[in-house]
Amino acid sequence: MTDQQTPVIAVDGPSGAGKGTVCARLAAALGWQLLDSGALYRITGLAAGRKGIALDDESAVSRIAAALDVRFEPTSEGVRVILEGDDVTTTIRTEEVGSLASQVAALPAVRDALLQRQRDFRAPPGVIADGRDMGTVVFTDAPVKVFLTASAEERGRRRYKQLTEKGISASLPALIEDIRARDERDSNRAVAPLKPAQDAVLIDSTSMSIEEVCDQVMNLVRTAGLI
Ligand code: DC
Repeated sequence: MTDQQTPVIAVDGPSGAGKGTVCARLAAALGWQLLDSGALYRITGLAAGRKGIALDDESAVSRIAAALDVRFEPTSEGVRVILEGDDVTTTIRTEEVGSLASQVAALPAVRDALLQRQRDFRAPPGVIADGRDMGTVVFTDAPVKVFLTASAEERGRRRYKQLTEKGISASLPALIEDIRARDERDSNRAVAPLKPAQDAVLIDSTSMSIEEVCDQVMNLVRTAGLI
């Protein structure tokens, strides 16, 4: 099987729509590789921050992105992320690193530098790619493309639940407002704006369970003849 024949399921959409959980479950069920492209932007932001590089220094940040010494190690509890020998699995999930990630993700040279690294995840028997531009930029030939959304209110409620379960206090209206502002920024940015590919299937998970979303994607995978 050549790289181009290796099937890809491209799953794009805003944060909070359930992409991460759905993609991890599908990858485990199918035994396929998982590309968490957001993690690459998070790692780049963290690596640049640690090296004291200004996040608006596009060429310096893109050099960091091109030379990332990162490993993804599958374990029974999920994928461990190792940056230059240091386990950064939990660090990259913090709000602080999320903010670094969104700044570096807006730089075209950084996106270019990470392009081949993302495509390198395409290896048999297949790959589930989770991101914002998987179907529109990175894997334009993916046989299955999904755009997973949920209302801003529902994504706010999910985020509120996650935070309060961790003992972090939060304001639901403020979270929903943040999500709306971020949607607006992500959809209108000049480089790789968040939008469904023309041939993507839209799934609105607002009133769906994770299982229902996974079943719907699996049906698309079957219909496409990939399994
Ligand atoms: O999905 P996430 O929250 O881990 O993504 C982190 C940041 O990277 C977020 O600001 C969106 C951005 N991102 C992107 O621009 N393109 C991708 N393919 C994945 C993430």
